[in-house]
Amino acid sequence: MSARVLPAHEPAAIDEAAAVLRRGGLVAFPTETVYGLGADAFNPRAVARVFEVKARPSFDPLIVHLADAADLPRVSPADDPRVRALAARFWPGPLTLVLSRRPEVPDLVTSGLDTVGVRVPAHPAAHALIAAAETPVAAPSANPFGYVSPTTAAHVAELLGPAVDLVLDGGPCRVGVESTILSLAGEPPVILRPGGVPREALEEALGLPLGVAGRMERPLAPGQLEKHYATRTPLRVLPGPAGRAPEGVGRVGLLAWRAAAPEGYAAAEVLAPDGSPETAAANLFAALRRLDAAGLDLILAEPCDEAGLGHAIMDRLRRAEAPSTP
Ligand code: TXA
Ligand code: MG
Repeated sequence: MSARVLPAHEPAAIDEAAAVLRRGGLVAFPTETVYGLGADAFNPRAVARVFEVKARPSFDPLIVHLADAADLPRVSPADDPRVRALAARFWPGPLTLVLSRRPEVPDLVTSGLDTVGVRVPAHPAAHALIAAAETPVAAPSANPFGYVSPTTAAHVAELLGPAVDLVLDGGPCRVGVESTILSLAGEPPVILRPGGVPREALEEALGLPLGVAGRMERPLAPGQLEKHYATRTPLRVLPGPAGRAPEGVGRVGLLAWRAAAPEGYAAAEVLAPDGSPETAAANLFAALRRLDAAGLDLILAEPCDEAGLGHAIMDRLRRAEAPSTP
């Protein structure tokens, strides 16, 4: 049996999906970053099913999605000028803020932390769904734990299938990499995961330089696990532009940055024919997935400049490259 998929632009589909959420079901829905696997954040049984379907370790907290920044008090008492400034500038959008939590937020959502990750997604269907459900929606990316995140409804249906009650199809995701996670829970604020909002934009809004959390500082943000966003095929990030494919290692695929592949590759994907990191981010996960399905022995990835969205792209590539056992 396959998943039930409905077009996200139809009001009747939104109403049906909201009803599924209200009665404790799971809805996969589009956001501007990646597809999310949503449950009513205040229903611990529904949230438990999210972990089950994703085969996700329960220590990994979920992001709570709100329809509007004005709903923040439902999940967090945080109300300082920085939160207001960041919300005004980046919400709706690909920024998750880690803030102090209200005790009403179930422990399963926060993994028992005294903080909660919150974001207001920009995709109109996400907004419509959360508003119609009239409840905050806890949602991880709609992929099995550790695998590449889905950027189309077909990816979700293929990966999670009938375990999801309903998939809303809102087309391919515009941003293509997950939200930037910024923790305001301690001092100074720190980026726990680079993502759709570039570090430079956050630094400008806050008027201070931001650190990106090192491995030891983020054991409780396991999207930060060393091995994550991974293809099943081994992947290596090249030190610079690709040359000819190496010989004697079987079928080699290339994740190229801008230009078509040099000789010798069994398969190739070009991330950004126009050279822009925005285009590359939007193509990244679908390209990785196609290479992963091409029967390769090795995927080589060209590096990109670590500026703007380049931080998030290189972060995902390095995690896909990491060995499973540190
Ligand atoms: O763009 C996105 O953020 C997508 C879409 C669906 O919104 N969601 C997403 O969720 O990427 P997920 O669960 O795949 O990644 C969320 C990350 C996890 O690594 C989790 O550890 C971290 O957010 N996180 C959530 N709440 C946290 C908290 N209170 N403190 C620290 N990290 C937190
Ligand atoms: Mg994820």
